Amino acid sequence: MEVVLVAAVARNGCIGSQGSLPWHYPADLRHFRRVSASHPVVMGRRTWESLPRRPLPRRLNVVISRQADYAVPTGVCRCPTMAAALSICRASEATRAIIAGGAEVYRLALPLADELVITWVPDTPAGDTFFPPWNQGDWEVRDRRCQPPLEFVTYRRRAVP
Ligand SMILES: NC(=O)c1ccc[n+]([C@@H]2O[C@H](COP(=O)([O-])OP(=O)(O)OC[C@H]3O[C@@H](n4cnc5c(N)ncnc54)[C@H](OP(=O)(O)O)[C@@H]3O)[C@@H](O)[C@H]2O)c1
Repeated sequence: MEVVLVAAVARNGCIGSQGSLPWHYPADLRHFRRVSASHPVVMGRRTWESLPRRPLPRRLNVVISRQADYAVPTGVCRCPTMAAALSICRASEATRAIIAGGAEVYRLALPLADELVITWVPDTPAGDTFFPPWNQGDWEVRDRRCQPPLEFVTYRRRAVP
């Protein structure tokens, strides 16, 4: 099973502000739906709570939270760790696990990721949540698609020589 991070990132690294997205780009929401369709989606508890409509339909939703008594609807999984979340995805015979944020969960998943699917957003919002630092030299661009003002780029982790 491949681990795929999907994020929309501003030029200044910002991904969120006050618990939600600092922009509204319907083309990016459509892109997320397409990339995550039929794959399990792993997200942090705060991102889960930020979803306007939850669970995300027709996909296994996995929410990471340390709160053992955190209630989620039937069919949604709460996991105490990233490892447990990925085990659940593997048990569902998924070929790809989509890591949908936010920043804390991206940080946990980045060392495990095979692929990054980044939407580059031209804004520089004054947000409070940022994509974790990553070394672009460790990744090669596999696909790049411009849909002004957005750019959708798929990166694959380079094989270690
Ligand atoms: N631009 C994008 O693509 C994008 C995507 C997703 C989200 N966002 C934005 O990002 C922001 C939310 O991100 P965030 O970093 O604040 O929160 P988050 O990563 O969504 O969720 C954080 C929560 O996850 C749980 N968690 C984190 N690390 C854990 C660990 N090691 N073990 C177990 N549970 C753990 C904790 O839940 P408990 O407190 O319940 O224990 C923690 O409070 C929002 O503004 C959202 O809109 C942006």
